[in-house]
Amino acid sequence: MNTKLSPSVPSQLETECLVVVVLDSSKEDRSEKDKPSPTVECADAAVREAAKDEISSGEVTGKAFETTLLHRPAGLKAKRLLLVGGGKAKNFSAAELRKLAGAAVRTLKSKSIRSFAFALPANGTAVGVSANDAVRAIVEGAFVGNFDPGYYKSDRKDKDQKIDAVTIVVPNNVQGDLKALESALQTGRIVAESQNFTRDLVNEPSNRMTPNILAERAMKMAAEVGLKCETYGADKIKELKMGAFWGVAQGSDEPPALIVLRYEPAGAADKVHLGLVGKGVTFDTGGISIKPADGMEKMKYDMAGAATMIGVMRAIALLKPKVKVTAIICATENMPSGKAQKPGDVQIAMSGKSIEIINTDAEGRLILADGLCYARQLGCTHLVDAATLTGAVVVALGYVNAGIFASDDQMYERFANANQQAGEKMWRLPLDDEYKEIIKSNIADIVNSGGRWGGAISAAMFLKEFAEDTPWIHLDIAGTAWMEENKPWIAKGPSGIALRSLVEFVKGWSA
Ligand code: BES
Ligand code: MN
Ligand code: ZN
Repeated sequence: MNTKLSPSVPSQLETECLVVVVLDSSKEDRSEKDKPSPTVECADAAVREAAKDEISSGEVTGKAFETTLLHRPAGLKAKRLLLVGGGKAKNFSAAELRKLAGAAVRTLKSKSIRSFAFALPANGTAVGVSANDAVRAIVEGAFVGNFDPGYYKSDRKDKDQKIDAVTIVVPNNVQGDLKALESALQTGRIVAESQNFTRDLVNEPSNRMTPNILAERAMKMAAEVGLKCETYGADKIKELKMGAFWGVAQGSDEPPALIVLRYEPAGAADKVHLGLVGKGVTFDTGGISIKPADGMEKMKYDMAGAATMIGVMRAIALLKPKVKVTAIICATENMPSGKAQKPGDVQIAMSGKSIEIINTDAEGRLILADGLCYARQLGCTHLVDAATLTGAVVVALGYVNAGIFASDDQMYERFANANQQAGEKMWRLPLDDEYKEIIKSNIADIVNSGGRWGGAISAAMFLKEFAEDTPWIHLDIAGTAWMEENKPWIAKGPSGIALRSLVEFVKGWSA
């Protein structure tokens, strides 16, 4: 998708469709009798005039994601005018704008429109969002909305419904700031294309996204953006004594892969070395503790954490922050077989800790245990992992928020700020020492499954044993990496959650 800025008067722009935001500017707590007070967020009076009848008729309220399409709008050079509702003006933010841009894309592409222009709402400032943030949000939202998961549909017509070009209309008087806006646009583009790159990997079914195919994709990406990438197989995993990782991998005919991506910019501070660890279970049957058939097909997305970290590395390589970052991806299937590990087995992790396997379906924490240990061995000073780790996090937070666990409050603050900037929903869960009781074993140091209660927390407590004293954050994205429904701004399917927050987080360490 092409993206460009156009400093111009919106009404004078020739385009297939001009998109403007409508907000509900009514006061808080209005009683039901009061009318909403929709305002067209465009500095150009001709645009407001073109929408006047719709607004005064009461048909347009400004409610979030309400869309109204007008043909041949009077006084405009645009062929169409799309009014998108942005909800209450007082709640409006870059995060809302991002979604509106996605909603505009999804509305227009379904009508076979290929290009449109988005008017920066009220000069991008009157609504409390800076012009830079607004441009970036619109670009990001547009790319996210343009993603279509229907890869293997044979009907071309469906597949070709994509937006090819978006123009962001900025006021004429921003000339001086145009360079800053241009760079905001490029940043948004890199981040959003990386998010879609991640979604692309997650969307593939497990027969087309084996551990080795994932490694090849990482390798290809690394060559394109100038990252170092090494991929290893079973021999290296055994040589490193990754007994927890191998315990999961040993049951599959499909060989596992250990993928290491390195970003080592000149001028980076040598005190900080970020380690990003991703769960790459390309299919999770549960192993011998096999999952029920119902819904098992979704376990192809159990490599979303890995795909996220690979996508983050892509964005980082292009944005070039001055901080050293290494990503470690543990990729394997979790299969039952004659070679598979069994409940009761004891595995010795790379760190030397012994693990009693209670449930072979708690495999994510096993592969991450060795991934985290390896990251520490490579010299990482701060660790973040992303994983579709537990069904329990879905019980706790539903499909709305991802779970954040942090062993270090300072590191958490940094992450929370980045997360706020990125506009992704996440919620911190606790890691009190009391929870350690749940993962005690009779025969070994720890068990891999603490049972039903507080399942997301006991999984995180398990990982903490392997992060040891290195500041560490764990993101449980089991409930958020896959959209269960179509939303106005994003298709059902892989979401790319956590990528934007992580990119922002890494940028924050730039020297
Ligand atoms: N991959 C699953 C977690 C998951 C559940 C991801 C739902 C996406 C959606 C994980 O490997 C798993 O099976 N976890 C078990 C752990 C249990 C056996 C302790 C779970 O959550 O049931
Ligand atoms: Mn599992
Ligand atoms: Zn899993």
